[in-house]
Amino acid sequence: MITKQLRIGTGFGAHSTAEDVLSGIDLTGTTALVTGGHSGLGLETTRALARAGAQVVVPARRPSAAERALRDIPGTEVHALDLADLESVRSFCARFLESGRPLGILINGAGVMACPETRVGPGWEAHFAVNHLGHFALVQRLLPALAAGGARVVSIASAGHFLSDVRWDDIHFRTGYDRWLAYAQSKTANALFALHLDRLGTDLGVRAFAVHPGSILTPLQRHIPREEWLALGWVTPDGKPADGFKTPGQGAATAVWAATSPLLDGHGGVYCQDCDIAEPAATDDMLIGGVKPWATDPGSASRLWELSGGLTGLNALR
Ligand SMILES: NC(=O)c1ccc[n+]([C@@H]2O[C@H](COP(=O)([O-])OP(=O)(O)OC[C@H]3O[C@@H](n4cnc5c(N)ncnc54)[C@H](OP(=O)(O)O)[C@@H]3O)[C@@H](O)[C@H]2O)c1
Repeated sequence: MITKQLRIGTGFGAHSTAEDVLSGIDLTGTTALVTGGHSGLGLETTRALARAGAQVVVPARRPSAAERALRDIPGTEVHALDLADLESVRSFCARFLESGRPLGILINGAGVMACPETRVGPGWEAHFAVNHLGHFALVQRLLPALAAGGARVVSIASAGHFLSDVRWDDIHFRTGYDRWLAYAQSKTANALFALHLDRLGTDLGVRAFAVHPGSILTPLQRHIPREEWLALGWVTPDGKPADGFKTPGQGAATAVWAATSPLLDGHGGVYCQDCDIAEPAATDDMLIGGVKPWATDPGSASRLWELSGGLTGLNALR
């Protein structure tokens, strides 16, 4: 069944929290994996899933920082994983698969934003490599566990995708690096990834969703000098989050909803926001959101999948 990119009316909204959307949902016996699950929105996602009974696996590039952040949350475990390093992805996945555990939920939340130009691996642009290619490799390698668990995979995209389609002629910004366009391209890639994963995964019982979490002040903004926050409209003059910004608990809600809501049984391949399926964007205002056509284009999603398979050498699912 093809799921339409239209609101369904869920009873939840922009102010709902991760705890709200899990009310009455028991995740006992489910293993969930949350990349970036020790910081910002990921931390609230981990907290809510664990409180609902899931065992939450948190792979982190700084395991000791992740252990510190999660030490008071029972039902969590930390493993080493650097998404910028495909060998690290391979070794984390091999260890996870050896454990024989099916995965019921995978939330691809780790990410970087607006970094100075950074090259990783064979010279790849860091936003595209960490936010997209690392998660692409993770899913390719975890496929047996995802299929065994009939998993929902949630790709944390962003309204940041409004600023750019995939730059097909120069994905790695060999020229004209721009930190916001690099972030935007990677977030369009996150949305296209979920679209195509859903198409390929449905027969295996794996469904996928992309999510815009809202705007939330977290460590993600670390590369933007504080003095720019006011000019960007992120904070009020007294330093409080601007109108329209969410708390981290509200920011985690849409991903947790997409990962668990019975309303999405039998559905997938759509971009969500505010705990519902999003509508096509009717404006350029990112706070209003919606999804731009280049982030829901099946042809682009297929092209990106092939390109990512070629770059990573991973084609378990195609
Ligand atoms: N906050 C917002 O307003 C907003 C809006 C739209 C979308 N999003 C998306 O939401 C997601 C979570 O963002 P957040 O706001 O929660 O930011 P955050 O607190 O900075 O969390 C990002 C996480 O990603 C991890 N990470 C970064 N590079 C990694 C790598 N190479 N390997 C493994 N993990 C890595 C970070 O680890 P370290 O702690 O080691 O850095 C951190 O745990 C991101 O995908 C972001 O694009 C956020």
